[in-house]
Amino acid sequence: MTSKPRLQLALDHTSLDAALHTAERLHPYVDIIEAGTILCISAGIQAVRALRERCPQHTLVADLKVADAGATLAEQAFAQGANWMTVICAAPLATMASAQAVAARHQGEIQIELFGRWTLEDAKRWLDLGIRQAIYHRGRDAQASGQTWSKQDLDIMKALSDMGIELSITGGITPADLPLFKDIAVTAFIAGRALAEAADPIAAARQFHSAINDIWRG
Ligand code: 5RP
Ligand code: MG
Repeated sequence: MTSKPRLQLALDHTSLDAALHTAERLHPYVDIIEAGTILCISAGIQAVRALRERCPQHTLVADLKVADAGATLAEQAFAQGANWMTVICAAPLATMASAQAVAARHQGEIQIELFGRWTLEDAKRWLDLGIRQAIYHRGRDAQASGQTWSKQDLDIMKALSDMGIELSITGGITPADLPLFKDIAVTAFIAGRALAEAADPIAAARQFHSAINDIWRG
C-alpha cells in the first residue's frame, strides 16, 4: 500500500481578490495551495507572496510552467515564498538545471509539468538533475475537447512512479475520478474548478478526502 495522496487546491482565478477569498475559505480543508498559471499571469508573482502571507503553514506551489529563464523565474517564485515551482516538460535541460539549482538553494523543489510529447528517457534525465517530482496533466483544452483518462495514461503514470518519480495528477479531477488511480503512488491530486467552483467548496474538499481515505486506507 502506498502513502496517502494529498489534496492540492489550484487557484486559477483571474482576480487576486477572488483567489485569496477562495484560499481563505478552503485552506483548512486542503494540504497544498497552488498559485495557478492563470492567477500568476493575471495578477503577477505577488500572488505567490499574498498566498504565503495568508497560508504560512501550507506547502505553496507556483505553477509557472516555466519554459526558459529557469534561474530568474525560480528566484522570483521561491523568494516570494513558494516551496515548489513547475517547469514545462518541453523546456531545455539547461532550464530545468538552472531552476533546480535555485530551488535547492531555497530548500524548494521543481515539478515537471507533463503535457504533450516527452519520453521516459527524458524523465530519467530529470531524475539525473535531482528533480524528483512531476505532474501528469490533462490540459483544460484537451478535457474540453473530450479527452478522458485512458489505460495508456495509467500505464505511463505507473512507469514514472516505478522509476522513482513522485507523481501528482491533475486536469478536471473530481472525487468520482479517484478510483481510476488506485494502483498509482500519487503525491497529490490537484483540483481547481472542482473545488473553487463547487456550490459548496468545503463539502467538495471533504468528498475528495473521503474518496482518498476510502481508496488509500492505512
Ligand atoms: C491548468 C492547471 C490547473 O491548475 C489544473 O489543471 C487544475 O485545475 P482544474 O482542476 O480546474 O483542471 O494547471 O493548466
Ligand atoms: Mg495549475
